[in-house]
Amino acid sequence: MRPGNERYGRTAGGPRSPDRAAVVAGLGAAVPQTVVTNDDLAGVLDTDDAWIRRRTGIRQRRAIATGQATSDLAVEAARNALASAGTADAGAVVLATSTPDQLCPATAPNVASRIGLGPVPAFDVQAVCTGFVYALASGAGLISLGVVDSVLVIGADTFSTILDPEDRATRVVFGDGAGAVLLRAGSRTEPGALLDFSLGSDGSSVDLIGMGAGGSRQWSTGLPAKAEDTYFSMRGQAVFKQAVSRMAESAQDIAARTGWAVEEVDSFVFHQANSRILAAVARQLGVPVERFRTNIADLGNTVAASIPLALADATAEGELTPGQKVVLTGFGGGLTWGSTAVVWPGLEPLRTELSTEAGDFLPKYR
Ligand code: UT7
Repeated sequence: MRPGNERYGRTAGGPRSPDRAAVVAGLGAAVPQTVVTNDDLAGVLDTDDAWIRRRTGIRQRRAIATGQATSDLAVEAARNALASAGTADAGAVVLATSTPDQLCPATAPNVASRIGLGPVPAFDVQAVCTGFVYALASGAGLISLGVVDSVLVIGADTFSTILDPEDRATRVVFGDGAGAVLLRAGSRTEPGALLDFSLGSDGSSVDLIGMGAGGSRQWSTGLPAKAEDTYFSMRGQAVFKQAVSRMAESAQDIAARTGWAVEEVDSFVFHQANSRILAAVARQLGVPVERFRTNIADLGNTVAASIPLALADATAEGELTPGQKVVLTGFGGGLTWGSTAVVWPGLEPLRTELSTEAGDFLPKYR
C-alpha cells in the first residue's frame, strides 16, 4: 500500500475476496424547515386538500428557501449518514440528482469538499427518481472492485426550483429533500449487504417526464428557451401506468435474482411517487400494502431522495427492523427503473432540518 492510501478510504489494489460486498453502515436524512401544506397550495392554485389527498396521499411537502441549493441538503444528509455510521471518512461520493447546483460541473465534488473528505472520487448520477438505486449500484461496484473501501451514496433533489408555478398537476406532488447511506466493504453474508441489482431503462419514452430547455438540443438552436420548456413537466397518467408495471416487474426480478419469493419480503421501500401507485403495485405483486413503507403524506415525491428518506423514517419509526428482508425499488424519468435487495442491518438514522429562516416560498415565475 502506498503511504497515506488508507486515508480517504482508498484501498491497496490487488485480488479481492469473491465474498466482498457493499454493506449499508449509516443512514442520514435532511429536509428543509419550510412546510408547504395542501391548503397553502390551494391558496394559490385551483386545487384543494381533498383532491390532493385522494389522488396522491400527500398532505404536505418541504421547500428550500431563496438562494439555497441541492448541495445544501446533500451536505446535511451526508454528514448525518457519516455520524450514523460513527465515522468522519468516506472513500468516494456518488450523488443522485436531477436538480444539480448547476449543469456543469457535477455537484458531488463540492459536497465531498464541504464535508471535508479530501481528494476522493466524486460524481453525479442522473436517473431522476431511480437515481438513488443507480447510485447505490455505482457505489457497490466501486467497493466490489476494490477501488475504495467506503462510499457515501446520496439522493438529493429540489424540484421546487423547476416546477411551473401554474401547473397544479406537478406542483402538488413534488417536495425537496435529501437522504444518504454510507456503504462500507464487508461480506455478502452480513446484514446490510446489497445482495444484487436489477436495473433498466426505456429511452423511447423520454417525453413522458422531463424539462425541454437547458441542454445541447435547445442551445444548438441559437434561440432562447420557450418559457414553458424551462419548467419540469410530466404526463401523469401515462407515467402512473408505467410506474406500476415497471416497479412490480423490477421487484419480482430482484427477488428472483436474490433467491427470495416475493411473499417472503418483509418490507418494500419504493420510490414515493403516489400512494395509489404503491397500492397498485402491492395488488400486482399479491402482497399486503401494509408491507410498503411510506412517508409520502409528509414529504411528497422527493425524487432521488425519496427512497433514502423513506428508509430513514421507516427505521426511526420501527417499521424497518434488523433481519427483515427488504426490497428497494425506484422508477422515474428516462424512463428508468431499478431495484436492490438487502437484509436490514441494525442502524440508527439521523434526520435534521435545513434552516429556511428568512426564506420565502418557491417555485417562482422565471
Ligand atoms: O416520480 C416519478 C414518477 N412519477 C409518477 O409516478 C407520477 C405518476 N402520476 C401521478 O401520480 C398522477 O398522474 C398525478 C398525481 C400527477 C395526477 O393524478 P391523476 O389522477 O392521474 O389525474 P389526471 O392527470 O388524470 O387528471 C384528472 C383531473 C383533470 O381534470 P379534468 O381534465 O378531468 O377536468 C386534471 O386537470 O384532475 C385535474 N387535476 C387536478 N385537480 C385538482 C390535476 N391536478 C389537479 C390538482 N387539483 N392538483
